Amino acid sequence: MRCLVSKPFVKIRKENGSDHSLHGHIQEVTTVHLLYEKKGHVAILTMNRPECLNALSISLLQEMEHAWIEFRDDKDLWVAILTGAGDKAFSAGADLKEIAQLSQEERKRTIRPGGIHKGLKVWKPIIAAVNGLALGGGTELALACDIRIASQKAVFGLTEVSLGVIPAGGGTQRLPRLIPLSKAMEMILAAKRINAQEAWELGLVSRVVAPMDLMDEALTLAQKICEHAPLAVRAAKRAIMEGLDLSLEEGLRLESELVRALRETEDAIEGPRAFAEKRKPKFQGK
Ligand code: COA
Repeated sequence: MRCLVSKPFVKIRKENGSDHSLHGHIQEVTTVHLLYEKKGHVAILTMNRPECLNALSISLLQEMEHAWIEFRDDKDLWVAILTGAGDKAFSAGADLKEIAQLSQEERKRTIRPGGIHKGLKVWKPIIAAVNGLALGGGTELALACDIRIASQKAVFGLTEVSLGVIPAGGGTQRLPRLIPLSKAMEMILAAKRINAQEAWELGLVSRVVAPMDLMDEALTLAQKICEHAPLAVRAAKRAIMEGLDLSLEEGLRLESELVRALRETEDAIEGPRAFAEKRKPKFQGK
């Protein structure tokens, strides 16, 4: 299947009811490149442009940004999994053909949509199920997730300098926080790609599994997280993530504030009660 090149197309609804299209503004997404499924308390987001290795077009990024917000705000969803369609790629990064056809002026005016890689705060856990090639923005999306599980076919790389730019979807900031600095430098400055085994050795992924087992592993892990008190899980993620930017003293203060708020919740009563009554707790996220 050939990869179709399409200009970023976003509809702006005017007050008088007529529509016009414009680059760089987010109002209403008109294409469907992201599959958004719900399985119990788990949301599964699948980047769905396998014909061009799930390249991140403006439309796909917009759909993903909206989906993250929907996931964040849906009280029945507790954990998300991000993956790519097809058996070849998680995502080959920015849609280079889309970028190539923009004029200099359009390139300047185009605002690339945000999302978790650009700092959208989602305290619910997000698992990346990296099913294949993850290059540029593909790796950056995986880095923005909390836990990465890789298929044996996964390849990671921040290739941006080979294209005249830098990894500006969080790559220059998150990679050195996750792996040794010298290794991060090599990956970014030499656009070095690493396979799943190397990613595991660096601690970039928490496990490597056979391609056919990837989604089962991700779902099993998601279900395991869902067995625990969801507000506590979110507070723990928040304490970890915000704590990374704090001094130890400030971090301990944050931890105390978060646990104080949790002690007020019904789930914090249910947990010890279920233990005393020798039964499984029924957490409700309240
Ligand atoms: N943007 C747009 N289209 C892309 C793409 C991207 N980032 N990456 C791959 N595609 C398209 C290819 O153009 C091709 O489309 P076509 O069949 O219409 O020609 C299709 O996806 C399959 O890719 P192809 O290059 O034929 O597969 P391959 O197995 O030979 O190579 C890659 C795979 C990923 C090594 C190669 O496509 C590549 O280097 N892509 C660019 C990756 C990159 O640097 N991303 C970072 C962007 S910042």
